[in-house]
Amino acid sequence: MTSTPQNVTESGYDALADKARDHLWMHFTRHSVYYEGGHVPIIVKGDGCYIWDDQGRKYFDGLSGLFTVQVGHGRKELGAAAAKQMEELAYFPIWSYAHRPAIELAERLAHYAPGDLNRVFFTSGGGEAVETAWKLAKQYFKLTGKPTKHKVISRNVAYHGTPQGALSITGIPVAKIPFEPLVPGGVKVPNTNFYRAPDNLRDDEKAFGRWAADRIAEAIEFEGPDSVAAVFLEPVQNSGGCFPPPPGYLERVREICDEYDVLMVADETICAFGRIGDMFAMKRFGVDPDIITCAKGMTSGYAGLGAMIASERLFEPFKHGTTSFLHGYTWGGHPMAAAVAMANLDIFEREDINGNVRRNEGAFLATLNKLRDLNIVGDVRGMGYFYGIELVKDKVTRETFNDDEAERLLRGFLSKALFDAGLYCRADDRGDPVVQLAPPLIAGQKEFDEIEGILRSVLTEAWTIL
Ligand SMILES: Cc1ncc(COP(=O)(O)O)c(C=O)c1O
Repeated sequence: MTSTPQNVTESGYDALADKARDHLWMHFTRHSVYYEGGHVPIIVKGDGCYIWDDQGRKYFDGLSGLFTVQVGHGRKELGAAAAKQMEELAYFPIWSYAHRPAIELAERLAHYAPGDLNRVFFTSGGGEAVETAWKLAKQYFKLTGKPTKHKVISRNVAYHGTPQGALSITGIPVAKIPFEPLVPGGVKVPNTNFYRAPDNLRDDEKAFGRWAADRIAEAIEFEGPDSVAAVFLEPVQNSGGCFPPPPGYLERVREICDEYDVLMVADETICAFGRIGDMFAMKRFGVDPDIITCAKGMTSGYAGLGAMIASERLFEPFKHGTTSFLHGYTWGGHPMAAAVAMANLDIFEREDINGNVRRNEGAFLATLNKLRDLNIVGDVRGMGYFYGIELVKDKVTRETFNDDEAERLLRGFLSKALFDAGLYCRADDRGDPVVQLAPPLIAGQKEFDEIEGILRSVLTEAWTIL
């Protein structure tokens, strides 16, 4: 405890910021900033595409919180759905028992999901869903006579969550090193960053896609097909700055998985629920995976909930005898969260949220593409309401920034400058430096113009500080 009385400032800001600095352990956060005069940003209100801080300043929410707030902030009916469920049944587990919200949501997700993905295992978030999918893959193969299949193939720079299994699947070395040794068996292959494709494939996206997919087959052969259980990939990879699948890529991965009896797991923690213009991105791409993991947008962030949705084939061995999937979470399928998800999906249907994304994605991309006239903008990529803008030192050679420059550019300038200019979004260098945008799915041309205007002025200034 500190002795700071309420409302007395130490840092020149209000007492709440001091309490945050002294007691709140923020996630993925360099706390030194707040001991060197920085002010913890405190968000107090949201409405539609906008958020407000405790100083009364308004910001455009260019990241939907954390890729979550699909239907926008301030939807009172989601609060009402939560309250109604809490009054009726606040909590009960789905461990051998069931309750209406979890049952109805499971049926609805199975209905939206592609192929025969029919079994819904609820978790409290995306990382737990990834963890669950890996455990299911391992047990499924043990039950079906292939007990040595346990490894997972995933892609460089991809983020799949923080539990130690999910972190093994994650392809970001700096996020893993402090926690090693992790769960063994995570194998990495190239991602689908076409902007950084090998020189001989830079002009042919289809050939690049074929090459990237074939690296998965190569890794399976190298590791031994009898040891590989699953391939995990996001339909559009977030980390690194929005890599859509090249034409034919996902189809080829499906073929490879079938050939080697390896499960194809689509991690749609970000991509599902409208981000790519459909309830599930894999449905839009027309490829049926064996498992989908999802979370975030299911409730538009109004409650914490995740899910692993598995094909009926994977559930089959669990239908018999004494077998069960010995796995679960206290909060998985929480009644309040499931009720909120149902109300959120009602909004999706009523307001045709997916249709809004599909109708406007071209205009959004065209608006962001205007930024290509800036010296610092190397690439603009993505689809749906999900875009990355890659920043470069030299547009012609595609030379990127060294570590010191990236540090100065992103953490020293861009993150704060964008926020100060009224745009909350992500300036990220888990791969090459990018600015990432994923606004609420209710945004339209007016909001795209606002984003472009702020980015134009801040990125123009960024070039001068380099
Ligand atoms: C693709 C992907 N998988 C997994 C996760 C982890 O989700 P959570 O933070 O809900 O555990 C994330 C989080 O951003 C993600 O983007």
